Amino acid sequence: MRKAYIDAIGMYVPPKIVTNQDLEKIMDTSDQWIRERSGIQERHHVDGECTTDLALKATEEVLEKAGMVAEDIDHIIFSTMASDYFVPGGGPMMTRRLGIPGTPAVDIRMACSGFLYGLSIAKAFIESGAHDNILLITSEVQSVALDFSTEGRDTAVLFGDGAAATVLKATDTDRGLLSVVTHSDGRYAEDLMMRTPSTLDNPLLTHALLDQGHGRVKMNGRSVFKHAITKFPQVIKEALEKAGVEKDQIKLVVPHQANLRITEAVAKRLDLKLHEVVYSNIHKYGNTTSASIPIALYEAMAEGKLHRGDYLVVASFGAGFTWGASVIKW
Ligand code: ACO
Repeated sequence: MRKAYIDAIGMYVPPKIVTNQDLEKIMDTSDQWIRERSGIQERHHVDGECTTDLALKATEEVLEKAGMVAEDIDHIIFSTMASDYFVPGGGPMMTRRLGIPGTPAVDIRMACSGFLYGLSIAKAFIESGAHDNILLITSEVQSVALDFSTEGRDTAVLFGDGAAATVLKATDTDRGLLSVVTHSDGRYAEDLMMRTPSTLDNPLLTHALLDQGHGRVKMNGRSVFKHAITKFPQVIKEALEKAGVEKDQIKLVVPHQANLRITEAVAKRLDLKLHEVVYSNIHKYGNTTSASIPIALYEAMAEGKLHRGDYLVVASFGAGFTWGASVIKW
């Protein structure tokens, strides 16, 4: 049966590194608080670059790795929480930046679950025979929407900017995406949100709204934590069952890099060895939303943690709430 598989991944983070010590200088926080609560030591922030700038760099790398040119891309799936413009989205912008006008592109804004939703769309496109070569871009510029005053410290310290680009291709072998499961629940929309610009307001953007902080990311950290540590294990079990793979067969779990404490709690609930089976690189990048899983996957591959035939699980939880998991035979 025709399946989708991940052929190559490219990644890019902007060069500017912001350490916990840098944040100590601009808000009432401490390196110790941030490390203990999240595992984060530093993150990258843009310094003038926009979302498609990061996306382009990651795409250039993945095309080279996949032995492709831009014209070989059949469809772009573009995941971000912040595209260059409010409208149009990043997908069409990438056809311009890659010089491939006319290439179909779809934008998704599924927050931290963007990679999982992107995999589900790519899987459907490829398995149905509609397309052969999919470029899944996950590019996030979040530092421009964070509140770096002490009031915003519970959220601002967690996020970083970064991008990944993943090429998915078709195969008739037994490798590839065995299952992709996705969920969403809008009852908790306000627990992690950025309200403005919003059609709740007319006009949708005013100085007053910005002055009230509505143009900044707001989070109910405890609610996110509580739901994340429940949904991650549930959806991983669901994806394993759908794929017909046993937990003991898993070689590597690459969860969305939300927070090391969430990852630790999930590993414990699934009885998985944190450092052997569950991958984390959050200390270097913070939470890069939809880019975090492919960036982690990129680094796990570079560290030799994945070999052809291994069973890999990727899983996410984030704003919406949205969550998902996929079992992949590498
Ligand atoms: N530096 C120093 N102190 C801080 C900071 C900070 N950056 N942020 C909050 N505090 C203070 C609070 O004001 C509070 O002070 P108080 O006791 O005087 O009122 C104290 O630290 C403890 O605050 P809590 O909210 O109890 O801290 P908690 O242990 O719950 O940790 C955290 C907060 C880290 C946000 C936690 O709730 C969490 O991990 N939530 C999950 C959030 C997450 O991962 N989001 C990522 C996006 S969603 C996703 O990707 C899944």
